[in-house]
Amino acid sequence: MTSFPRSLTRRDLIRSGLALSASTLVAGSVGRAHALLAAYPGAASADAMSALPPREHLLFDFGWKFFQGHATDPLHDLGFGKGQGDFAKSGEFHFSTEKFDDSKWRPLNLPHDWAVELPFVHDEEQNSHGYKPLGRRYPETSVGWYRRTFDIPKEDSGRRITIEFDGAFRSALVFLNGYFIGRNDNGYAPFHFDVTDFLNYGAKNYLMVRMDASFGDGWFYEGAGIYRHVWLTKTDALHLGHWDSYVRQAPSTRDNKPGALSLGTVVQNKGPHEESCRVRWQIFDAAGKGFATAEAAPQSVAADGSANFTANATVTNPALWSPETPNMYSAVVTVESGGKARDAERVSFGIRDIKWDADKGFFLNGKSIKIKGTCNHHDHAGVGAALPDRLQWYRVGVLKDMGGNAVRTSHNMPTPEWVEACDRLGMMMMCETRLMSSNAEGMAQLELMVKRYRNSPSVILWSMGNEEWVLQSTPQGPRIIADMIARTHELDPTRLCTSAVNGSFDTHFPDALDVMGFNYNLNAPDAWHKAHPKKPCVGSETASTVSTRGIYSTDKLRNWLSAYDLNHTEWSELAEEWWKFYAAREWLAGGFAWTGFDYRGEPTPYGWPSINSQFGIVDMCGFPKDNFYYYKAWWGSGPVLHLFPHWNWDERDGEPISVWVHSNLDSVELFLNGKSQGSKNVQPLTHLEWKVKYEPGVIEARGTKDGKVVLTEKRETTTGQPVSIRLTADRTEIHADGEDVSVLTVEVLDKDGRALPTASNLISFKVSGEGALIGVGNGDPNCQESDKDPKRSLFNGLAQVIVQATRTPGTITVEAYTEPYPRPKLPATQVTITTKKVDLRPAVGWGPT
Ligand code: GAL
Repeated sequence: MTSFPRSLTRRDLIRSGLALSASTLVAGSVGRAHALLAAYPGAASADAMSALPPREHLLFDFGWKFFQGHATDPLHDLGFGKGQGDFAKSGEFHFSTEKFDDSKWRPLNLPHDWAVELPFVHDEEQNSHGYKPLGRRYPETSVGWYRRTFDIPKEDSGRRITIEFDGAFRSALVFLNGYFIGRNDNGYAPFHFDVTDFLNYGAKNYLMVRMDASFGDGWFYEGAGIYRHVWLTKTDALHLGHWDSYVRQAPSTRDNKPGALSLGTVVQNKGPHEESCRVRWQIFDAAGKGFATAEAAPQSVAADGSANFTANATVTNPALWSPETPNMYSAVVTVESGGKARDAERVSFGIRDIKWDADKGFFLNGKSIKIKGTCNHHDHAGVGAALPDRLQWYRVGVLKDMGGNAVRTSHNMPTPEWVEACDRLGMMMMCETRLMSSNAEGMAQLELMVKRYRNSPSVILWSMGNEEWVLQSTPQGPRIIADMIARTHELDPTRLCTSAVNGSFDTHFPDALDVMGFNYNLNAPDAWHKAHPKKPCVGSETASTVSTRGIYSTDKLRNWLSAYDLNHTEWSELAEEWWKFYAAREWLAGGFAWTGFDYRGEPTPYGWPSINSQFGIVDMCGFPKDNFYYYKAWWGSGPVLHLFPHWNWDERDGEPISVWVHSNLDSVELFLNGKSQGSKNVQPLTHLEWKVKYEPGVIEARGTKDGKVVLTEKRETTTGQPVSIRLTADRTEIHADGEDVSVLTVEVLDKDGRALPTASNLISFKVSGEGALIGVGNGDPNCQESDKDPKRSLFNGLAQVIVQATRTPGTITVEAYTEPYPRPKLPATQVTITTKKVDLRPAVGWGPT
């Protein structure tokens, strides 16, 4: 086992590791992940809070223009930043008027991340950001301008109109029709502007957004640009407040009657007269059946004022939400005045009971349940931080297939569609804010997070932040976190708060937490629990096991880490170590392994040319590494038998090979070319291992349960020569909505149709018809090929292509082929994806224009 010291990470990356052999191989079993993903629906795209008439909530993603600006050169920065009183005169920002010509700008649709399009730079200062040139040292690639022209009909005059950003990286400045509208500094929190006064009604409008990634929020790849959705929302002057509507379980009855609900909202009156208002709720189940109603006491809302409305409702015998049964409900909230509905929205929620217990851990719906979680950043192969909604579902699906029941949104508030996928697929969530502070900015970010996601049943715990070394040990720390927690409880009395703590365990900082969160430090929890017997505890961050998919020898020259469960950082643990520790202690509620998916940046323990992390249990594409099956065996519910490594070791003929099996069956017998290598009993939470003298052929594991062989798995020596390409789409029918994607896996096969586990062939792609290629990847932490070019080398036998539908129903043809060189030339293969007509969510225009 190797543990890598902290000094080898981040800024001071020194190459380290063990130089053994250079053998490679694949983790296999992509087929199983496919079966899982096919079982999930396409992107559902039902917003957690969705607009109902007369409100309009229009997707504003289509038809933008983009220009790479410059942080310090005014000539390339559209005249902005000349230092002549930039914000002194209202209405003078000509670049957001008809006078500005953007015809040469690049047309694109959102979400968009320009960082993933940039070339890599060999600059150790940039290692955390995946070696992308962003930040103050790279002014020429750190500013991006987004421009959008749109119509507002005359009839909209008198309505309130807001532009809403779900999140954009970073430091947004927003201009409309020549006017400066506002700014937002951080890279993850949503923000919106009421633009009613600045619009041209019955005419064209010109919106300009300047994004500046010169500063960063984190030490990991964050992306750059408008990487989440943008919305244009139109309401009556009398309307429901932004994310003010909640549906929560009534506190007094939470323990025994989960169907008793408290309902609340805020009505805002931006009109010139006082309005007398009624607010009603109708509760619907997932099938759309309405069965409960409630009404608040009528109130008058003064001109330019607001008022709270509350009511109660009961759902008898509710279908409870859990990871296994993600039952959802919705509440339609309507405000009426003058005899008509003036505004309405649908709030999605679930009914479930959660309890944290200092002795017995976490309970869901009265049942003790261990948290089997992973931490995840938000980028994916090919697309960087700009994920189409379907990819959020894809990623949650991969983690669910592993047996995971929880995720932590490290270290920032999540993309709304990630939360929605967790709600609807059944994945609990520790939801974390970016800035741990009780200053105005920190509190504003926290409030947005809690209001935005408090109706989501997946959220079981709020996190005030991660590893704040200073706050953990200063007198300011407990004060700051206590203020944050108090405000969180005001906005959401139903959930507890934690923080991911990595040291100073004996200070007053942890005292302020409702639930203690341990990052790593397996030597700390026992003593801490003894000293604080009344405080529930969770593993807020664990593992940081490092491995490369399909690699079976750590090799410091190639920046590879063995995929056996052997390597972790100096401060962390192997998969087997941390999970055995947490599983053995009833009072520990479970934990969150760092990380589910690999992510760009933090190439620990290596540096260049590694450009992404190796902490993932699956790689950047979601292809499983072997540890995936350790977790699946001990977290999941079904029988598991996973055998590795591959069996292509001709250069090691006669040498002993470590053969591992992850299984939760009773015993496993191993065979080489039909000859038994011995049977071993499975010890809970542990792997099995044989040393087998290599000879080519077939290695096979037979798993027994209750005396019967129930699963077998084998690895065969392949010919090594590819003769064909296999292209497999996760879905061959997707929505023609301009957003949905199909995720394709690329492999090469030998003459007997067997996938080659160590193949590295360069495959090219041609996409035609009603779709486009939006990204490629292969999960290789050291691969510096472009994410956007229509070609990719396989890494240990696998690559991924992501194609996105247009809005016209039809077909997309994806062709995979090889160029004449490098050899061998393989015959082209094709997959056809049908894009079917669906009800489109309302949008402003469809581009690119
Ligand atoms: C933790 C930190 C994570 C990540 C991880 C790598 O201390 O919270 O963001 O850097 O280390 O092991």
